[in-house]
Amino acid sequence: MSGPGGESGPTLPADPPGLDGVALRAGARAVLEAAWREDAGYTVPSTTVYPFQWLWDSCFHAVTWAVLGEPDRARRELAHLFRTQTPLGFVPHVDYEHDPTHHAEFWRHEGRSSITQPPMFGHAVAVLDALGVAVDDLVEPATRGLRFLLEHRARIAGLVALCHPWESGGDDCPRWDHWCPGGWDPARWYDVKGDLVATVEHAPDGSPIANPSFLVASCGFNALVAFNALELASVTGDDALRAEAEALVATLDRRWDPSLRTWVDAGDSEATSGRVRTLDALLPVLVSRRDDAVEAAFAELLDPSAFGGACGPAGVHRGEPSFAPRTYWRGPAWPQLTYLAWVAAGRRRRAPEQADLAAMLVRGATRSGWAEYWDADDGTGLGAAPQSWAALAAVVVGG
Ligand code: GLC
Repeated sequence: MSGPGGESGPTLPADPPGLDGVALRAGARAVLEAAWREDAGYTVPSTTVYPFQWLWDSCFHAVTWAVLGEPDRARRELAHLFRTQTPLGFVPHVDYEHDPTHHAEFWRHEGRSSITQPPMFGHAVAVLDALGVAVDDLVEPATRGLRFLLEHRARIAGLVALCHPWESGGDDCPRWDHWCPGGWDPARWYDVKGDLVATVEHAPDGSPIANPSFLVASCGFNALVAFNALELASVTGDDALRAEAEALVATLDRRWDPSLRTWVDAGDSEATSGRVRTLDALLPVLVSRRDDAVEAAFAELLDPSAFGGACGPAGVHRGEPSFAPRTYWRGPAWPQLTYLAWVAAGRRRRAPEQADLAAMLVRGATRSGWAEYWDADDGTGLGAAPQSWAALAAVVVGG
């Protein structure tokens, strides 16, 4: 494994001895096996902390199962994701099939949540297809899921709006601090997040379409919408979907700020927390057509004085006052985000950066004990452990 790991300094713990692709894949498989629900056909993110099906987690699990040579599990997991899809195409972010009244009062709905998450199913379908896994029955619900966001979700400055911070996947990201006035505080933010569920507006079929109390179109979320639409269109040849994704990319690219070296969110936080340099705000590297922005974003991702870390890019730029290296969504490295940066580097044929990102993800996953997220510098595990999406390390290891 090449990469900056070897240069990471004498204070770091040694990597586990003899860690090669075979051992890593065996470790990843054990993590996924332990969280697999054979009766239901999906992997829970964590058997203790997250014992249900989560949207973007399951997409990453499906990719990993497919790479590990388990096409049936990959297909079943993705197919199950659409169990709760509405007629308009909305895919809920949590499926409570096995405990339908769980949080039902909170969501005002049984069996599922009332908001979505990044639609990573476009990418998952493309990966499965590339590996020769049949995706015919997944294409239609995945297309409807993306069309829901592109056609029925509110827009802000031409971008797809979020209805809730949780929809981004990054619950406590400093990009949302605008809605926690007086300085971010975990207890107050917890209450605000609860209140923001109540103000989501739904279409007659229950699909969330807007939230007048949370007016924001996140660059990270829009990058993932565009990326997933393009991934799916590459499988289906859906030119209309591709055109809509390209229009979103063009709009996103007008939001690159060269002095801050980040993309800036649209909406009420545009002049405030929507400019904080967070890792998710660099996700447009997956789709951007601006060479200057892509160059700068990759430099930021790997620069140790910006985001770079031996165990993955930090979640927040180290120069931000909000950077907190071990606080949930406010500084640690996340496996799924490092994986997405690795995908972007691969698509752009940036082999050295891709190798660095792979080494970081492998190092972080193994040092952390396959944790939910970890300290970007030394890999100290944080959150749930083991957590299924850490198994993405097996996807990037190669060999
Ligand atoms: C946390 C994360 C979210 C993830 C979920 C399950 O809520 O913020 O992104 O989907 O856990 O892993």
